[in-house]
Amino acid sequence: MRIVILPSASDVAQFAADIVANQLEIKADSVLGLATGSTPVALYDELITRYQAEQLSFKEVVSFNLDEYIGISVTHNQSYRTFMNQHLFEFINIDIQNTHVPEANLPTKQALLNSAVRYEKSIAEAGGIDLQILGIGINGHIGFNEPSSSLASRTRVKTLSQSTIEANKRFFNEDEFQPYLALTMGIGTILDSRHLLLLATGENKASAVRAMIEGPLSAMVPASALQQHVNASIIIDQAAAAQLSLKKYYQWSERQRSMLAQTGLGSTNE
Ligand code: PGA
Repeated sequence: MRIVILPSASDVAQFAADIVANQLEIKADSVLGLATGSTPVALYDELITRYQAEQLSFKEVVSFNLDEYIGISVTHNQSYRTFMNQHLFEFINIDIQNTHVPEANLPTKQALLNSAVRYEKSIAEAGGIDLQILGIGINGHIGFNEPSSSLASRTRVKTLSQSTIEANKRFFNEDEFQPYLALTMGIGTILDSRHLLLLATGENKASAVRAMIEGPLSAMVPASALQQHVNASIIIDQAAAAQLSLKKYYQWSERQRSMLAQTGLGSTNE
């Protein structure tokens, strides 16, 4: 794993935007995996700024979001489709037809199962995900793969954990229905992406970040599955890095990486 520790959350957004820009430079019609949540908002703001400065184009990009709530309509102000429209898609030149969010507002279990199968098929037909952006929950989830999720799971219905419901309570009014089910890419689906880019900022993520990087590979910490991926970049701020026991090593390793890149030797620290 590549572990990059940066001074602040805004440095994390800049660094992640550089990775996305690099991906689009290599392949203008990249397939991007996108995430919702408060963490990627600063990255999306930076991508919008670079698009407006004509440094980036999303004209040929295809996107797949990680997850969507079950039980609220796509037009609900808290649906992840609405989130993506309002935080990114409305401000860049992506073709909205090329943006995919799991279709989860369906009346029956069978319809949801079919939707999950269709989502997997659409990803495969698009050629697979080139770069998947991820956040991490305080309980170590990625997407809505809650603790105890199979590390081989595919897109499916998941029941949200109490910790996730609590963490997301702030987005819903007190008397409003809050979803407790979601349709989410599985951990196996996420691991099929060619490059994983996980962002974490703030001290409330420090324990999950430590478990992801330094804990055992475990279904109890879904993000620890990144240990199984050959091309995972974990970009975090100092606060989220606070509990890492090998923090100095990761920083030293990144310095070596830049030096090796300058000498053309490439890198050795995946
Ligand atoms: P957050 O959510 O970015 O809002 O902290 C991350 C997640 O739960 O995956």
